[in-house]
Amino acid sequence: MDIFVGLLLLTAVTSYLLWFTFMSRSLRGPRVWVLLGSLPGLIENFERMHDWMADNLSACGGTYQTCICAIPFLAKKQGLVTVTCDPRNLEHILKNRFDNYPKGPTWQAVFHDLLGAGIFNSDGDTWLFQRKTAALEFTTRTLRQAMARWVNRSIHARLCPILESAQSQAEPVDLQDLMLRLTFDNICGLAFGRDPNTLAPGLPENSFANAFDRATEASLQRFIFPEIIWRLKKWLRLGLEVSLSRSLVQIDNYLSDVIETRKQELLNKQRDYDDLLSRFMKRKEYSSYSDKFLQQVALNFILAGRDTSSVAMSWFFWLVIQNPKVEEKILHEICNVLIETRGTNIEKWLDEPLEFEEVDRLFFLKAALSETLRLYPSVPEDSKHVVADDVLPDGTFVPAGSSISYSIYSAGRMQSTWGEDCLEFKPERWLSPDGKKFMMHDHFKFVAFNAGPRICLGKDLAYLQMKSVAASVLLRHRMVLVPGHKVEQKMSITLFMKYGLKVNVHHRDLNQVIATLKQGKENLLSE
Ligand code: HEM
Ligand SMILES: *[C@@H]1O[C@H](CO)[C@@H](O)[C@H](O)[C@H]1NC(C)=O
Ligand SMILES: *[C@@H]1O[C@H](CO)[C@@H](O)[C@H](O)[C@H]1NC(C)=O
Repeated sequence: MDIFVGLLLLTAVTSYLLWFTFMSRSLRGPRVWVLLGSLPGLIENFERMHDWMADNLSACGGTYQTCICAIPFLAKKQGLVTVTCDPRNLEHILKNRFDNYPKGPTWQAVFHDLLGAGIFNSDGDTWLFQRKTAALEFTTRTLRQAMARWVNRSIHARLCPILESAQSQAEPVDLQDLMLRLTFDNICGLAFGRDPNTLAPGLPENSFANAFDRATEASLQRFIFPEIIWRLKKWLRLGLEVSLSRSLVQIDNYLSDVIETRKQELLNKQRDYDDLLSRFMKRKEYSSYSDKFLQQVALNFILAGRDTSSVAMSWFFWLVIQNPKVEEKILHEICNVLIETRGTNIEKWLDEPLEFEEVDRLFFLKAALSETLRLYPSVPEDSKHVVADDVLPDGTFVPAGSSISYSIYSAGRMQSTWGEDCLEFKPERWLSPDGKKFMMHDHFKFVAFNAGPRICLGKDLAYLQMKSVAASVLLRHRMVLVPGHKVEQKMSITLFMKYGLKVNVHHRDLNQVIATLKQGKENLLSE
């Protein structure tokens, strides 16, 4: 009997190892381990995961396959992950065969409690309906004006006084935290017309913002565990699942109140509201929307538009601080535009927010922001589910049920796409050959805003917001990194800085900038 069991075991182990050898050889990419698959490599490189993926992708020509566990039947099916950043594959997944690559069941299950079937977390018809409704709103000039109003308010009434006081008291500030508060206030204003004032002197705690942060964090933690484990934890009320359900109640209360108030106000026609919630409520299909649905609409927009813009601005300021030549060029551009539109009286520059026409002329600034997003995309990795067997344009076979992880971070750092200087911060690569215009790169090479039918709806609003904030800050202040402060990537769904961005704030001498510009013109004339 013992011998029989022994023989059986031996055969099982030998056939597993044989299978494993063939299986692992068929996968290009990081090493896979017996049983554990790619997990050890992931854990070992966790702290620098995006760079690790970029290195490997670049070594493998833009695509590799790996398995999250080396178990027969699973490894080349549901357990298989195809990692890619090849522009041809991206075009195929995000556009040409869009229907074969939805977000999929894992993603939806994880975010269901927080986001429901909102635009960010749905596929198929549910997504399409919301996309169409929202797309109509996002192309209106009135939404752009609403965004400009909220942005102006948070810059002039909030950010400027805080930076001013930091400068006069020589206290460092965490720019990432300030940006996060600013974008939170802006997006709440835009989404449902109520500014929670998180960017205020003393940087107060805000229970809605906190509940929102905790809920996002807890939802993300679900990705780490197999579905059955977090479902069990939810049922037994353990760990972060408790914090999630508590936060959801808080969010629900806050938003119910917002929606109830707005309903009353719309009934009484007290004012003309131009936030997204009211826009949805004013549509003729409105009677078919439940309050729950409206809440989810609002929440999805907050998630989409908050962290993304704030981390982008943090990386922008950090890159600009380290590249004084770029900083100077940005400033000169802003000053040249303002001299033309407002004359040389500096008070006129700082009193009023930038007009759309002025913002639109800042193309070098737009180039610098795009270059920031190329190197530090706010959403560094994203994933899709494979519905039916398919072959990607580069020849990789992807079986039904497996997933595709597309690395936005790596896509911005491939030498094959961006050339030898791919790791350098060079806004100039976004200018037309004569240097006079902004030039967008191919949508499938630069995927920081996603591409295809699910391209970011808020892209233009985000540029408007980032340009306005960048210009206002740079016109008033010169910033220096706090000595010894470490800037590192935090491994999360959004590319945060792990320890924030601590800077000292100094006064910007604009008269000196104007003098330099004049000197430059005279030199040109006398040449
Ligand atoms: C620098 C700022 C931003 C970046 C880098 C960014 C990036 C992205 C990315 C990568 C996606 C695709 C996500 C996915 O499908 O998994 C996305 C979708 C989306 N973004 Fe943005 N975003 C930014 C700002 C905004 C803002 C300010 C808003 C709203 C005002 C917004 C609204 C949306 C919406 C509604 C979607 C979902 C589109 C859909 O699934 O059809 N985004 N964004
Ligand atoms: C790819 O990943 C493997 C396993 O983690 C590693 O040994 C190898 O050095 C990586 N390749 C490159 C080019 O970084
Ligand atoms: C910008 O915001 C400030 C401070 O809230 C306000 O006084 C000013 O009127 C606003 N300007 C415009 C054009 O909205």
